Amino acid sequence: MNENIEKIKQYVQDLRAEIELHNYRYYVLDNPTMPDAEYDRLLRELQQIEQDYPQLIAVDSPTQRVGAAPLEAFAQIAHHIPMLSLSNAFDAVEVTAFDRRVCEGLSVDSVEYAVEPKFDGLAVSLCYENGMLRAGATRGDGYTGEDITLNLKTIRSIPLSLSVKDPPPLLEIRGEVLMLKADFLSLNQRQLAKGEKEFANPRNAAAGSLRQLDPSITATRRLAFFAYGVGENRDVNLPQDTHSHVMAYLASLHFPVAKECQVVKGLQELLAYYQAIGAQRERLPYDIDGVVYKVNSLLQQEQLGFVSRAPRFAVAHKFPAQEAVTQLLDIDVQVGRTGALTPVARLKPVFVGGVTVTNATLHNADEIERKNVRIGDTVIVRRAGDVIPEVVSVILEKRPADARVFVMPSHCPVCGAKAVRLPEEAKSRCTGGLFCPAQRKQAILHFASRRAMDIEGLGDKLVNQMVDQAIVRTPADLYRLGVAALASLERMADKSANNIWRAIENSKQTTLARFIYALGIRNVGEATAKDLAAHLGSLDRLIEANSERLQQIPDIGPVVAQSIVDFFAERHNCEVIEQLRLSGVYWDEHEGKPASIGISVPLNGKTFVLTGTLPTMSREDAKEKIEALGGKVSGSVSKKTDYVVVGTDPGSKYDKAVSLGITILDETGLQALLQ
Ligand code: IVH
Repeated sequence: MNENIEKIKQYVQDLRAEIELHNYRYYVLDNPTMPDAEYDRLLRELQQIEQDYPQLIAVDSPTQRVGAAPLEAFAQIAHHIPMLSLSNAFDAVEVTAFDRRVCEGLSVDSVEYAVEPKFDGLAVSLCYENGMLRAGATRGDGYTGEDITLNLKTIRSIPLSLSVKDPPPLLEIRGEVLMLKADFLSLNQRQLAKGEKEFANPRNAAAGSLRQLDPSITATRRLAFFAYGVGENRDVNLPQDTHSHVMAYLASLHFPVAKECQVVKGLQELLAYYQAIGAQRERLPYDIDGVVYKVNSLLQQEQLGFVSRAPRFAVAHKFPAQEAVTQLLDIDVQVGRTGALTPVARLKPVFVGGVTVTNATLHNADEIERKNVRIGDTVIVRRAGDVIPEVVSVILEKRPADARVFVMPSHCPVCGAKAVRLPEEAKSRCTGGLFCPAQRKQAILHFASRRAMDIEGLGDKLVNQMVDQAIVRTPADLYRLGVAALASLERMADKSANNIWRAIENSKQTTLARFIYALGIRNVGEATAKDLAAHLGSLDRLIEANSERLQQIPDIGPVVAQSIVDFFAERHNCEVIEQLRLSGVYWDEHEGKPASIGISVPLNGKTFVLTGTLPTMSREDAKEKIEALGGKVSGSVSKKTDYVVVGTDPGSKYDKAVSLGITILDETGLQALLQ
């Protein structure tokens, strides 16, 4: 009997290998060697055996790609190495500037680049532990994504396990999920036949299919995957020299890698590649919105490093924005968070670059005059990627006799306060401040947004009601709301009221950087807020800082400094902050110690690499503390690394550190240094 089951086990393993090999040939190599009917027969046979011998079911069996039960909600997955975005270049001049910056940064005349298509899909991360696909996640905000493992497993070109003898303990693959144009067309035909809504473009179809709580729906949608890099890893076989070798390695592990990936040298070859791919674009089986240039040498990549949320060693060269002609029906004026009045064109709906556009920005009064736009005109509208659509120009020949000239209102259309335009500014601004409901709503939405206080569920519909009913006037009022007040809002069940209340309570514990960002100070974005928190270390120091002191902080110039000083000079703002603190909003004041100029930055210029799990500190924690003292945390070890901090299960970075003779610290050692 035992011998028999062993035989069946072996047979099942062979069957699985054959099925997965077929998946690979079909979906990755695009070169099937087995008729579909034969494939179906093998899969059915495997299903039957697994049904008869459930003890033989394995997580990486091809039968496990479908049929998982629906989820209630997606869990969150942290990206230990953040999933960053790329900066964009829109023309040859910007690419030239990019190449020049790279050459200057490396002190060389010409650089070798790995060049690739820019897939127009969704970024995902796939985590393989000991060769098994354990988790897959969306990019989310770059730091935390949603756990979509079950959905990703339905994608046939994604290996469920790595077909190598000695799989690495950890290998995180990053890439893009998309829907091929042909699959998109047939999906829409099926949707139409079922009387269901068609998808606007392959990207939306891919996104809608991937974020399904029921994986059996995802399984019916054919999705594709392309790898373009690695994240966290402990893999001795992972090439350490170039990006192109990393890609070849991923292809050897059976991950799909775009055929169009190449290695080129110098600016001219970058531009030639852009032209060549542009010419093939229509014929490619998937949508792309540009090409990506990456410095090929990993050492050079590290030398260049990152700026804000994007690498300095890579850029996305976007294809020209897509344009369409339509009629401008009217011009409305929108009031932004800081009171800026923006004229917005209301358009006859038009399909541009895969979506229907009904509004487009006109930026400001000068732009309207410069472009000579009138209400009733026929206009050209442009949409570039995710950027807000804009009116590019007017077709004057088509101007009707009754076209009307637009006049920027002298008063705020929402609160009626006077609108003023300062001499050096392009925009008029409402002077109503936080007394203007439009500004108040935007300020509260910003305060609650994910990167700020992160109050989940507090969206524009709720905020509109809260402000219109005068239940909430400032962000501080949010913390005074009880469940009863929340439940009194329209379309708010008790359970949702409870959830919002809890989300508000949970947001009380925050970080100084988030809090500063949440205040919505003009010109203070997320990166500046982080810099302020790290260098000043306490809110009171920020409130007291004058313009000169603020300008001593790297990247803070006179305009930003003045915005900060103006913000805290407003008594109302300080009162709201005081109320927020009294309501129990708090953060660890020592997350960032006072640093730079005059005050010490003990770790200034020191580069750290973290590897393995530390006993008590999270990686984020350690990173924040190092950065607060002026240190830098890098993802890979090089001669320039000063310290490697090692926890349990360290990766190849540890070995590399030993071989380069770099100082190695454990958590206690790090703590001592931080003291
Ligand atoms: S590399 C550090 N390569 O573009 C940058 N990204 O704005 C890591 N994308 O979210 C990304 N094709 O979804 C890279 N060949 C490619 C890409 C690519 C598409 C997307 C990706 C990312 C966004 C960056």
